[in-house]
Amino acid sequence: MKASPSNPELLAFISTRQNRLEHALERWLPSAGTHPAHLHQAMRYSVLGQGKRLRPLLVYASGHALGNPVAQLDDPACAVELIHTYSLIHDDLPAMDNDDLRRGKPSCHRRFGEADAILAGDALQSLAFQVLSSGHETSIGAAERLRMIETLSRAAGSRGMAGGQSIDLDAVGRQLNIAELEDMHIHKTGALIRASVLLGALSGPGIDGKILESLDHYAKFIGLAFQVRDDILDVEGETEDLGKHSGADRHRNKPTYPALLGLSAAKQQADELYRLALDRLEVLGADADPLRWLAAYIVNRTY
Ligand code: IPE
Ligand code: IPE
Ligand code: MG
Ligand code: MG
Ligand code: MG
Repeated sequence: MKASPSNPELLAFISTRQNRLEHALERWLPSAGTHPAHLHQAMRYSVLGQGKRLRPLLVYASGHALGNPVAQLDDPACAVELIHTYSLIHDDLPAMDNDDLRRGKPSCHRRFGEADAILAGDALQSLAFQVLSSGHETSIGAAERLRMIETLSRAAGSRGMAGGQSIDLDAVGRQLNIAELEDMHIHKTGALIRASVLLGALSGPGIDGKILESLDHYAKFIGLAFQVRDDILDVEGETEDLGKHSGADRHRNKPTYPALLGLSAAKQQADELYRLALDRLEVLGADADPLRWLAAYIVNRTY
């Protein structure tokens, strides 16, 4: 990850969590030889060994801020990454953004065909809820699992990410105002980022309502900031760094923050969202530092 924190403890936090996640994902995904092999290969191709893993890192960081044991965070971390990867596979399909490059290699449908890409996305979504409902970690109670399932299902559904994708496609070629653009971003990207922070908190029992509310506000601000930065990188990022084609939004006439406000105002907007997010963490101590660093990473990242 570029824009790395200088603090060695944070660096260790990130690399240990990324390693845990990779192993956990590997355990959950059926092997490449499992029947039907082509579908399982497509799922593994899209999930394993790549991506910034930002959403799982938010699960781990939020759980860490509240003192939840790390073993309780692997299942929700896997679940959000599985939903996210499914959303990327479908986002790249010809009926949606029609992108042929994802995470530095041919997108799933370019490599495995449209039908298996659709099915891989479907199956990853189901697997996410299988992980949450029947995960290996016995210290997570049934009530906590149910709250996490409810939170993630809402975030992924028609009032969350899937709804946001529908708004996005409907907006192609149209001029949105700033409120409409914000609404689209909050749904298509913000909802899953928000759910990631909440799942880290909800994996343990008995969270204080005020703290949960502060985390939720933090998550809303960084969720929107993440998509504002994604729009900025589509303008000034390099395809090689991004692992996806830069300039794709302009090419497809998508409404974005830079298109509506200009690059410099879009950057100011991201910085303002970062400041608002940090304010919400004031109620938490040094254990929330990974959340603070991830917020900084979101607005400064170069890929
Ligand atoms: C890309 O998400 C899709 C958006 C919501 C903007 P990421 O930038 O987190 O993609 P990966 O997981 O690192 O590939
Ligand atoms: C994608 O937004 C959001 C989801 C996948 C839900 P974008 O279409 O901007 O993401 P990229 O730029 O293709 O990664
Ligand atoms: Mg899209
Ligand atoms: Mg896209
Ligand atoms: Mg984009």
